Parts: sequence; structure tokens; C-alpha cells
Amino acid sequence: MTSITITRPDDWHLHLRDSEQLRAVLPYTARQFARAIIMPNLKPPVVTTDMALAYRARILAVLPTALQSNFEPLMTLYLTDNTPPAEIVRAKESGVIHGVKLYPAGATTNSDAGVTDMAKCYATLEAMEQNNLPLLVHGEVTDSDVDVFDKEKVFIDRILMPLTQRFPSLRIVFEHVTTRDAVAFVEQASSNVAATITAHHLLLNRNAIFQEGIRPHHFCLPVLKREIHRQALLEAAISGNPKFFLGTDSAPHSQANKENACGCAGIFTAHAAIELYATAFEQADALDKLEAFASFYGADFYQLPHNKDFITLNKENWVVPEQLEFAGERLIPLYARESLAWKMT
Ligand code: DOR
Ligand code: ZN
Repeated sequence: MTSITITRPDDWHLHLRDSEQLRAVLPYTARQFARAIIMPNLKPPVVTTDMALAYRARILAVLPTALQSNFEPLMTLYLTDNTPPAEIVRAKESGVIHGVKLYPAGATTNSDAGVTDMAKCYATLEAMEQNNLPLLVHGEVTDSDVDVFDKEKVFIDRILMPLTQRFPSLRIVFEHVTTRDAVAFVEQASSNVAATITAHHLLLNRNAIFQEGIRPHHFCLPVLKREIHRQALLEAAISGNPKFFLGTDSAPHSQANKENACGCAGIFTAHAAIELYATAFEQADALDKLEAFASFYGADFYQLPHNKDFITLNKENWVVPEQLEFAGERLIPLYARESLAWKMT
């Protein structure tokens, strides 16, 4: 195959940051995707409907003129121990907030204000269930005695499974799943539970973090896992099961913050997101499954219409830039200086 045309995709999990960093990274996403679920882990986090509306306005304000009306940010709230149920009603009524993000406190970048104990959120989760507002989950426990490679599996057993039993009608997106355990959990769960899969977790296993030295640009959370897990993710992605759909988790950090004695977690993939997914699907000989994964299943789960226009990818080698401009700093994209075989026209 030398060319593939698919319905324009959406990104169901994206970090855009704010201010000049937002201005720098937004065009990469808006060029490819019609919509994106925008993560609320800013400093300070987006905890109220008013904050989400203001953030949305800031995003739209820096959208390049050529892409105006071609890109819609789908906003989220950041769940805290103290998010009142009334905030859920306001969020739903806004019409522009499509989910509430659960970060276990301390799990990842800007998660300090996250949830310390699920029981503190029960009334709010009940309001989400009643108002049909999905919970978007960063699925890792934070206990320091749990091995970093087991944090997702332990989260399923201790937090997620009980949550689905207590709130059976709550719609849940298990974000960026990284293990075969997570795939199995989502498969056996009710139709209210779905998952996003990143391109980097489809393409890389944990060896990539230690290739001839330590590779900070391959460090993300949840951390890359063993090859058996990558295989399980790939099988889920190409299975045609509508519970699994595209979410890049593209997460920009400056080169200085990545190449650091305590480097930040996050892999930037927005510069080539759909191309990276095409690469993974092609390796699995399943390019025919890309469109539904990238353009239909997420919209269906979020109860939004499919996009009406199309994008085309050509089989064409191109070299990923060494670095990108990032608000006066440098941003190192995934596969910098390496060649990719697909290019969006
Ligand atoms: O790698 C990650 N980066 N994982 C997350 O959960 C957060 C994200 C970020 O915001 O940088
Ligand atoms: Zn994320």
C-alpha cells in the first residue's frame, strides 16, 4: 500500500500546556486531528468549569488562523478530594467539558492536587454517573512499596475493579493502558469501560529506555513495559474491539527538563502522531483497522459524531527534526533525526 485515506481522526488524550508552550505545540495536533481531549494538569490544575472555559478560550486564541474552525478542544476537569457534585452539574451544562480526570495524588506530572482517597470522591462520582460525564483515569497506584512496573496492575485490583462495581453506570476511560492485564480488564468489563492506547506504547518496549545508555526521551508514565505487554496492546488496537481507541498522551517537556538528573515524564508525539500509529498498524499488517481505531471508536464512546472530512497518508520517507521550538526552549520529538515511512499530506 502506498497511500491511505481515512476519516479525520481525533486524539482522546492530549497535553497542550499553556501560554507560549501551548502556542508552540497546538499546531502539530490541529494539523491532524479534528478534536482532542485536553488534559487539565496545568499549574494550577483546571478544577472548575470556569477555569476550563478560560483554558478553552486560551487554546482557541492561539490556534493558527488557517486551522480556525478545524479544531475543537474537548475540555476536562481535574478531580480533587474536594470537587463538589455541583461542579459536575456545571461542567455538564457548559456543553464543552467531556470528562473528569482522576490523577491519584503524586502519580505523575502536576498530580499533587489529585485524589488521595477514592472514598472522598464518591458523591462526585455519583454525580458524574447521573450526569453521564465520563471519568478519565490515570491508572497507577502511588504506593512507594509497589514496583514501578506493577503500578498499573495493582491499580486495577485495588482501585479500578472496586470502582466499576460501586458505580456500574459510570463511564470510564482507562487512559494510556500499558499492560496485558489492563487490556484483559477492559475486555471483560462492561461497555461503560474503554481505554486509550498511545503510539509510543504500541511501538516501544522498556528496552527503549536503556538503549546503549539511559534515554530520557523514552521516559513516560506509565513507564514502557515488557514486549509481551506491547504485543497485547497491539493486538487490542488492531482487534476491531471498539473499547480501544487512539489517545496520544503527547506530553511536551523542554529538553532541559527531560535531560536532567530528575527528568520529567512525557513523550512528545504530536509532530507525527497519526504517522506513528500508521507505522505500528502497518507492522502488525493491520492498516485496514487504523481508521476505526483513530476516527470512530473514541467518538462513539464519547457520544460525539464522526468527523466528515478525510486525511491522507502517503508511504514516503521523511526525517523527524532534531528539535522543535518550544517557547524559547527546545523540544525533542519522538524519533528525532530518525526516518519515518508514512507522511500525512
Ligand atoms: O508521561 C506522562 N506525562 N504521563 C503523564 O501521566 C503526564 C504527562 C505530562 O503531563 O507530562
Ligand atoms: Zn497524559
